Amino acid sequence: MNRQNIDIPQTSIEDQRRYIAEINEITSKKDLKYHIITYGCQMNVHDSEKLAGMLNTMGYTETLEQNKADLILFNTCCVRENAELKVYGNVGSLYTSKQQNPNMIIGICGCMMQQEDISHYIVKKFPFVDLIFGTHNLHHFPRLLWGALHSSHTVVEILDKEGLIVEDIPLTRNLGVSAWTTIMYGCNNFCSYCIVPYVRGRERSRQPIDIISEIKQLSEDGYKEITLLGQNVNSYGKDLGKHYYFSDLLREIDDIDGIERVRFMTSHPKDLSKDLIMAMAESEKVCEHLHLPIQSGSNNVLKTMNRGYTREEYMDLVNLIREKIPQIAVTTDIIVGFPGETDIDFAHTLDVVNKMEFDSAYTFMYSQRTGTPAAKMDNQIDNKTMKARLQALMELQNKISRNINSRAHNQIVEVLVEGLSKNRNDMFSGRTRSNKLVNFAAPYDVTGKIVQIKVNKAKTWTLEGVMV
Ligand code: SAH
Ligand code: SF4
Ligand code: F3S
Repeated sequence: MNRQNIDIPQTSIEDQRRYIAEINEITSKKDLKYHIITYGCQMNVHDSEKLAGMLNTMGYTETLEQNKADLILFNTCCVRENAELKVYGNVGSLYTSKQQNPNMIIGICGCMMQQEDISHYIVKKFPFVDLIFGTHNLHHFPRLLWGALHSSHTVVEILDKEGLIVEDIPLTRNLGVSAWTTIMYGCNNFCSYCIVPYVRGRERSRQPIDIISEIKQLSEDGYKEITLLGQNVNSYGKDLGKHYYFSDLLREIDDIDGIERVRFMTSHPKDLSKDLIMAMAESEKVCEHLHLPIQSGSNNVLKTMNRGYTREEYMDLVNLIREKIPQIAVTTDIIVGFPGETDIDFAHTLDVVNKMEFDSAYTFMYSQRTGTPAAKMDNQIDNKTMKARLQALMELQNKISRNINSRAHNQIVEVLVEGLSKNRNDMFSGRTRSNKLVNFAAPYDVTGKIVQIKVNKAKTWTLEGVMV
């Protein structure tokens, strides 16, 4: 296995051109198709847009049908165990397809592969996999794929260290009105339960000029909504040494013509500054939605989680944001069953949820991640207790979400239309500025437009209405 603990030289996609040209020669004769399966967060989804971009430059075309693909790529996530189990199941089920079609290439990349024990296990357990690589060498994909096309063994290359940011990777974005752009990579926070800092490396911010020119281009390409991505966008710029921070970036993006809405995720409560709140309040395009993970409502648990704030500080912050931006929707992430979490700790979480009235919450059972400090704590919580707590938390949150959504009944909301609804094909769907999903009837195709919808039905997770 080729595992390298070296500083990676900054290479560009241009350096890959020999491989791109050679693969192009193969694809031009054979009309080869690819299919990418993506797990995990938006960062991974966005990385898959880069993989797709590189594949398109190499002459591959996308197929949505896995069984018609000549190249199947799994872009994996390891934030919780169930994300990993899905990958094992899905890769395993390709064994017969690979026997029937030995020319098919199977590749696995992403966060899960950055864990040494897991990439070793995959090589052993699934020897029919052709290519394995990690998150730090994504831009070397053309060379790695070339290797896989020319080798009878599994090509494995995982770099232990992040390199400099590579800017010129081609992107194939999903067509639509909304585009993602990563503004920073990695995370320095080391929350004690979380694997992300180990698999994504340290925080690296992109240069403002690169972000701004990308967004200007997206505007010219017709995108109306931009979501800025990073594990902790509030610490954007701290590594640049330019006194240019996230609030400065938001203010600059606010001036870009053609972009109507700006969103960002994820914010860390310990780094959310007053200056940023003011920038959000003042920027016309920044939407009235903040995703601010609390993780737990107990100060004891927050401390062992290494989150760097107390429940009181969190609540003060949300109250301040609501005072400055009254229309704002606040959503959160919560983990139940962190090691040592007592019934009283959990009651504190329910109490904060009651007090804060989040618009919605992603709720998770704690998952032990090898290599993190929390995995070694000896007071792990049993599954039954975790399940019961998750159930209680979800019931409470659903009641609150339903309640908040019911206030929208008979109101007129502004919706940016994404297209036909996925569940109801007689309806269109889009989001309000506060990020609520709205399904509605319209007399003509309004995809890509901003429309006014009168809400006539409020559900727990969605709103329904008609165009006015
Ligand atoms: N950087 C973001 C998101 C990280 S992952 C943040 O700081 O909020 C998304 C969510 O997964 C986290 O907010 C957390 O709630 C959850 N998560 C992370 N590690 C977990 C673990 N080991 N078990 C259960 N949930 C976890
Ligand atoms: Fe994980 Fe914490 Fe970093 Fe979020 S801030 S990615 S939860 S370590
Ligand atoms: Fe998962 Fe990696 Fe994102 S671990 S949550 S895909 S950063």
